[in-house]
Amino acid sequence: MNRARALPAAGASEPAAQRPLPRRGAAAAAAPRLDAWLAHRAVKPALFALALVPLALLVIGAIAGTLGANPAEALIRRSGDWALRLLCLTLALTPLRRLTGWQALARWRRMLGLFTFFYAVCHFLAYAWLDKGLDAAAIARDIGKRPFILVGATALALLLPLAATSFGRAIKALGAARWRALHRAVYAIAPLALLHFYWMRAAKRDFDEVIAYAAVLALLLGWRAWRALER
Ligand code: HEM
Repeated sequence: MNRARALPAAGASEPAAQRPLPRRGAAAAAAPRLDAWLAHRAVKPALFALALVPLALLVIGAIAGTLGANPAEALIRRSGDWALRLLCLTLALTPLRRLTGWQALARWRRMLGLFTFFYAVCHFLAYAWLDKGLDAAAIARDIGKRPFILVGATALALLLPLAATSFGRAIKALGAARWRALHRAVYAIAPLALLHFYWMRAAKRDFDEVIAYAAVLALLLGWRAWRALER
């Protein structure tokens, strides 16, 4: 607030440098209002409901028979897509909070992280059920045979402890430092999920989406690495 008031005065002797300042001041004034709006108690449940929409659409599509010629493939792929999208969204919350000052975003992090895990589990279950008929031996053989499945399984296995320790009691039991160290596994999970996606699409020589996700993840992880180095 003080900064917003101080900036125009500081630039008073430089008219050209002053020009963007009112806009910055307005943005600074709007930020707390938006933050208060995002912190409204209805927003988090609304976000929760919104995160369930992709699953609802997949279930409705499967029942109505509107998932295309290969519904099993559509279920596996679309749940995988949502796991990756939610991973990116979860990773985007902290940089966005730092950039905008919207503290309310911190309250969504655990929920979106858990939804990432939830869609990854749905993705695995769709594969295990529709592709492998819930045959554990066939799944194990596939993990050993196809590297892209091994990489996906590793990403899912690494997500498991993060989901299991995302609750207050687990954080307390682990201690903040150990909890933070454990959650650094996201630096491995994101590249593994991307590699899994790349390997799958490489067979079809279809790289457009892979490049888009790679750019987003490089930005989000790069920002974290840069901040860690700064610290
Ligand atoms: C045990 C764990 C996993 C298994 C067995 C698995 C298996 C699969 C399979 C069979 C496909 C479809 C391949 C095809 O249609 O040719 C696929 C695609 C995909 N998976 Fe996974 N996956 C796993 C974990 C993950 C995780 C953890 C993520 C992300 C966080 C993920 C994201 C994706 C994505 C984005 C696709 C591509 C979807 C598309 O083409 O639109 N998978 N996975």
